[in-house]
Amino acid sequence: MARTRTLFFCTDCGNESARWAGQCAACGAWNTIAGQPAESGRVAHRTAGADAVRLDDVASVAPQRVATGMKELDFVLGGGIVPGSVVLIGGEPGIGKSTLLLQAASRLEALGVPALYVSGEESATQVALRARRIGEGWGAVRFLAATELDTILSASAELDPRVIIIDSIQTVHVPDLDGAAGSVSHVRESASRLQRMAKQGGTAVLVVGHVTKDGSVAGPRTLEHIVDTVLYFESSAGADHRVLRATKNRFGSADEIGVFRMTASGLIGADDASAFFLAGRRAEVSGTAVAAAIEGTRPLLVEVQALCTRASYGAPQRVANGFDRQRLSLLLAVLEKRAGIAFGTFDVFVNVAGGARLTEPAADLAVVAALASSAGDAPIPEHTVFAGEVGLGGEIRPVGQIERRLTEAGRLGFRDAFVPPPETHHGSLRIHGVGQVDTFVRELFG
Ligand code: TYD
Ligand code: MG
Repeated sequence: MARTRTLFFCTDCGNESARWAGQCAACGAWNTIAGQPAESGRVAHRTAGADAVRLDDVASVAPQRVATGMKELDFVLGGGIVPGSVVLIGGEPGIGKSTLLLQAASRLEALGVPALYVSGEESATQVALRARRIGEGWGAVRFLAATELDTILSASAELDPRVIIIDSIQTVHVPDLDGAAGSVSHVRESASRLQRMAKQGGTAVLVVGHVTKDGSVAGPRTLEHIVDTVLYFESSAGADHRVLRATKNRFGSADEIGVFRMTASGLIGADDASAFFLAGRRAEVSGTAVAAAIEGTRPLLVEVQALCTRASYGAPQRVANGFDRQRLSLLLAVLEKRAGIAFGTFDVFVNVAGGARLTEPAADLAVVAALASSAGDAPIPEHTVFAGEVGLGGEIRPVGQIERRLTEAGRLGFRDAFVPPPETHHGSLRIHGVGQVDTFVRELFG
């Protein structure tokens, strides 16, 4: 009778030996030798090898995206919705998540892409009333008022939409789970099952998740790992504009933003994000400077405001909105040490206008300009932009994509640009190459 030969492997280093031993002869580890029938071992290896693919064989299978026709939304998604993906749209209640997705569903229908809108928050009548305001396509959107996950899954199986919208994940109830809809376990479990449905059937799922100001409610934060793409819908207080920001995207670049305006007839994409962020700017006051920034992949001009006032008591305040506070402290220290502008007895406030956020070092120079302008109460000439990273030595360092930044500035009618050297020409812009913070301040304010 044929006996299957047994081979022995070290589970640590993988060394193969003919017999069992207490210690591996190759790596010296103890109790790591395990036996495996030689035949089955070989078969297993062959199967696994057959599963490996050449990367250039699969590279052509790029996801076929479904464009919603809402330009800003498609842009933030990376070119449209990827079939079989799960997208989370987070934001505070009332910000416009339902409006955004209802508009997306309507546009999809208008383009002949069947969409199913499931709401656990509003009735069909309420949603239809809203839909009337937003134009084209809405009449064909199928609407389902449901909170039970099973109902949602079977409706999806029956109707077979290309895109299904769940508004919101906090209202979805998983039948075999304890607790209430909206609890962490229900939110997680329903998201996982929707994710499975999406991957199996190729339906794209857009889920709404409410976030409260302190982020405490179970929802988006617990979901970020489960879903493929996370978009946050935000506004700065009181303004009617909305920024849609990608913070995670398995199928595109994170950090992209889209800009909308909320109007009486729904959300309208703001074609010109820079013009939007510069709207309402008062160039004649001191402490305002314009940064030539890059947000995600698009160039964007953003206003930085600084206000320095004598501190009334105690430690002076350092407040930054839309800009990193530690970075602000660093820039203040550099200005003090390298340009002789002391902020020690001043409260300093920095604000990035329009609710934008400047996270790239290239914004340093605009912040420094705004700070120096406020400290000296000297306004910066109106059509001036800044791009440059500031180092601890007071040196102004080169930044990426300078061409695109300057092109955007030129397009918006700016005339002067302060950038790291070398001085170059760029269309109608006067380029001031500045290498050091002290000479920069002197050249800017004369
Ligand atoms: P909504 O989409 O319901 O917010 P969310 O789903 O994030 O809670 O939007 C609510 C706000 O938007 C509400 O205050 C009314 C306003 N809105 C408009 O200004 N114009 C419109 O066309 C629509 C549909 C809503
Ligand atoms: Mg809503």
